[in-house]
Amino acid sequence: MDVTRKTLAKILVVVFVANLVVMGAGALYSYQNAPPIPQEVVGPDGQTVATDERIQAGKATFQSNGLMNHGSILGNGAYFGEDFTADALDLKTQYMQEYYANERRDQSYRSLSDAQQAAIDSRVTNELDRDYDGGPVEYSAAELFAHQQVREEYVDRYANGARERGVPAGMIEDPEDARQFADFALWTAWVSHTDRPGADYSYTNNWPYNPVAGNVPAGPTVVWSAIAMVLLIAGAGIGVWLYHSIELAEPEIAGIDIPDPREVDLLPSQRAATRYIPIAALLFVVQVLFGALLAHYYVERDGFFGLGDLLGIDILQWLPFAISKTYHLDLAILWVATLWIGAGLFLPGLLTGHEPDHQRTLVNVLLGALVVVVVGGFVGVWLGFKGVIGTDNPLWWILGNEGLEYVEVGRLWQFGLLLGFVLWTILLYRGFKPMLERESRYGLAHMIIYAGGSIGLLFVAGVLYTPQTNMVMTEFWRWWVVHMWVEGSFEFFIVAVIGITLVSMGLLEKRSAEKAVMLQALFVMGSGVIGASHHYWWVGLPDVWIPFGSIFSTLELIPLILILFEALGQYRALATSDESFAYRLPFMFIIASGAWNFLGAGVLGFFINLPMINYYEHGTYMTVAHAHAAMFGAFGFLALGMAVYMLRLTVDPDRWNERRLRWAFWLWNAGLAIMVLISLLPIGFLQLETAFTQGYDAARSLAFYNGDLVQLLFWARFPGDTLLILGTVVFAYDVIRKRFVLRETSTPDETPGGTIPDRILPEDDD
Ligand code: HEM
Ligand SMILES: [Fe+2]
Repeated sequence: MDVTRKTLAKILVVVFVANLVVMGAGALYSYQNAPPIPQEVVGPDGQTVATDERIQAGKATFQSNGLMNHGSILGNGAYFGEDFTADALDLKTQYMQEYYANERRDQSYRSLSDAQQAAIDSRVTNELDRDYDGGPVEYSAAELFAHQQVREEYVDRYANGARERGVPAGMIEDPEDARQFADFALWTAWVSHTDRPGADYSYTNNWPYNPVAGNVPAGPTVVWSAIAMVLLIAGAGIGVWLYHSIELAEPEIAGIDIPDPREVDLLPSQRAATRYIPIAALLFVVQVLFGALLAHYYVERDGFFGLGDLLGIDILQWLPFAISKTYHLDLAILWVATLWIGAGLFLPGLLTGHEPDHQRTLVNVLLGALVVVVVGGFVGVWLGFKGVIGTDNPLWWILGNEGLEYVEVGRLWQFGLLLGFVLWTILLYRGFKPMLERESRYGLAHMIIYAGGSIGLLFVAGVLYTPQTNMVMTEFWRWWVVHMWVEGSFEFFIVAVIGITLVSMGLLEKRSAEKAVMLQALFVMGSGVIGASHHYWWVGLPDVWIPFGSIFSTLELIPLILILFEALGQYRALATSDESFAYRLPFMFIIASGAWNFLGAGVLGFFINLPMINYYEHGTYMTVAHAHAAMFGAFGFLALGMAVYMLRLTVDPDRWNERRLRWAFWLWNAGLAIMVLISLLPIGFLQLETAFTQGYDAARSLAFYNGDLVQLLFWARFPGDTLLILGTVVFAYDVIRKRFVLRETSTPDETPGGTIPDRILPEDDD
């Protein structure tokens, strides 16, 4: 089958428009059908229990105090604490059971016979599993009692502090704020048990699993899982068929004239771009150290090996889980982004030999600006968390801790990052200009700009909500950023970067690379964008997202099959090379990225993607396993590979030594594999079983995490984490050392062209 680049480009445009139409209409429909925030919740005597204002104030408290990085809401967030939705629902049902046991028999629920308990359970189920038809929500006496109990429980835990849970005292400073937070959590619980109009399942499609509240998997969940299974097998077949029928070119190393680093010119802006590497390495070291602290909190919830006592500081109070988790996560995104940004600034010069005016200065300015924004954002998060910029300050979400997972930093700093992305895209454009002018609109340089630009563009979805927005719609937009980044523009960006890198190494022809990149972009965009709906199943968004998510996210297997084939092809090429191949190490990173992409995103992504599995596993360690293997595996390794490639071309060839970098490579691979396969995944399976047999809340409870086997598995990640940290330290040490053995740059005017541009630029067409 011969598909031209032009045809592919046309199909891509159609896919782009179709995505916009579906997601745009989906946004509208989701707004119209979002679960209501009732103006008032009233007790049996008509007394006001909660109001919409209290619920939304509770949401602000939840965000500003970083509670989404302590526990989760509607299954999204951190998994150290409870899922507040499931917890509030579970507490509510239990207190209702107690209320009736007391009222009817003057006894505790536990002491009743099975038949008596069953009678109470069915009464509770009937009360919770019902419709809402507008107006105030009317509580029964039992619900009122339960609501008040949950409030006091939350004051106890989150205001007074609960060290055995890893909650520092004053996490929420004011007890009244903690009560409002409880109102917010109880509202999400209400959304989870109240039936959607015209349906016999709730707004959250009956998530979380809690039979007493009437929450069991609904019909569509089962049916669409079956359909998704069929599609998954079909998708695998389609992927294999496509790969064989389109015959994508494979890189070749043996017998190819590969540019030697000595012959490659180095421009001033390129050398400046390598400054991003040690900065990223330091961010990476700090990130993994926070990771170690987080992992340790699961085995010792209020300290770190007695270090706090030794130093006389209370670690739980100063660096509690929520804040460490925020930094751990944001640093991960940041060091990967820093390396990608650096690589994006390095590649144009390599391919064009062109140094635009002041490019070097602008590269430095961008780095400086990023440092300012990141420091500002991180300080803001801390001040927000500590209540210095608390919710009584109207600017709390602009300057302090906006607190929504992955996009925590205040809005001002987010704008700063957005501006950074815009400046980066402009610099990319300036650098690639000679290539952009020669090639067609679907050439490789264009692809990099489209992919890079789309990363910035998606960030804009993060400004479509404010703290006043319904939590459900907030989740809608937040996933536009998070999901469409990782399963859309990041995947697009890495295939484009890999394509252009292989072309620069001389291992692939530009045209063949372009075709492969376009084909990948087509399948990634055709499945991954609407695939965002797999995050919409249980968070209160309309039920149409179940079929959409089941179909489109399942089809994401097709591009992953192509990525796997590409990695295998690259491996075959590497196997034919010998030690004289200068880019062996960056090439190994590219292969590792493809392999982990398949394992992390593919193998570990797809089985949690079946609605029926996802229903029980949502927000558990299976997600953690998947996220680590996919994020670090696919995107981290690629970023590090690009760093190694940049270094190979900037370090004085006579003083090049890659021994330490090779060590880092294997330490990271081994560390990640041990962490994911020996620890995270087994814990996830135990959680899955517990959720299925005892209800979702039990799978996220302290009792589960403190179980003997689970604690053993938490310790089992220790060797893996240690290898990972070691790899990172070795890497950071090495890249700092390499700052002292850099080559001299060439003056652009002296050497127009250079070996790589000589080969690539004339090849261009149209
Ligand atoms: C390299 C690509 C990918 C990366 C980096 C990635 C990363 C992540 C991350 C970080 C999360 C955690 C979100 C949270 O905090 O709750 C997540 C969740 C999830 N991912 Fe991926 N992912 C990738 C590809 C995929 C693919 C291909 C699928 C399957 C189609 C998939 C399915 C899911 C699902 C279903 C969840 C939600 C789990 C839950 O309910 O808690 N991911 N992913
Ligand atoms: Fe996703």
